Amino acid sequence: MKIYTSIKELQSDVLDLRSREISIGFVPTMGALHKGHLSLLQRSKDENDISLCSIFVNPIQFNNKQDLEKYPRTLEEDCRKLEQAGCDIVFAPSVDEMYPEEVKMQYDFGHLDKVMEGKHRPGHFNGMAVVVKKLFDICIPHRAYFGEKDFQQLMIVRELVKMNKIPVTVIGCAIIREDDGLAMSSRNTRLSPHERSIATEIYKTLLWMRHQAEQRTVEEILQQARQKLASHPEIKIEYIEIVDEETLLPVSDWNSSGNIRLLIALFLGEVRLIDNMRIR
Ligand code: PAF
Repeated sequence: MKIYTSIKELQSDVLDLRSREISIGFVPTMGALHKGHLSLLQRSKDENDISLCSIFVNPIQFNNKQDLEKYPRTLEEDCRKLEQAGCDIVFAPSVDEMYPEEVKMQYDFGHLDKVMEGKHRPGHFNGMAVVVKKLFDICIPHRAYFGEKDFQQLMIVRELVKMNKIPVTVIGCAIIREDDGLAMSSRNTRLSPHERSIATEIYKTLLWMRHQAEQRTVEEILQQARQKLASHPEIKIEYIEIVDEETLLPVSDWNSSGNIRLLIALFLGEVRLIDNMRIR
């Protein structure tokens, strides 16, 4: 496995691979790798000749300074895991390498970046879009793999690719869960044992909502889901939404023709967790 920290060196090798018609699968990450990331890598390996993984804790997508400071950084361990899992190339640049100058780019994704995560984490999606565009420009992948846990991010990346006519196929991959249903996340390591035991309530609430769908009104389900989660004093809900998957607009009844998705974001103690599930 080859590890690059220089944009120039990586780009020149990637261009060489492409000139030899070698297909490149790309898995962008912020490190602290878990089985969810490794499942993206496996999918990339199944579908491409070469798999490239980036590890970069992108400061401009954190709207909360403390969250950035506390974000786990485990580069050596991550590289070990990637090598074991058969990754071919790792790109782990420094902040100065990625951002030698102040970032001025401002994207507008219309409604997509104004709701849910966009509303609660101002600037987050702009910072995410800036780094993903830059990573696509550097790594020039044929296919890029994103987890559905960050469902809104996946929708915005698809829009980014469309807006900029980037020749990459974006592939959304199913959420990987712990045995008790908690969606795998680098942030889970920050939960205390007590908080970790409560975290499974997010998955249970999503399952309950999906089960109750079409038997109760959308409003009733939202209200009862809020009550269920709020009964745990450690939980502070940011949002619970039932939306159309394409537009991310809230649905008011079950007659909506598209796919419907449930999304939850909350704080468990100091740790912010998100999860989602498709209803249909
Ligand atoms: O999902 C993530 O880990 C990040 O948002 C990403 C896509 C690597 C961009 O920094």
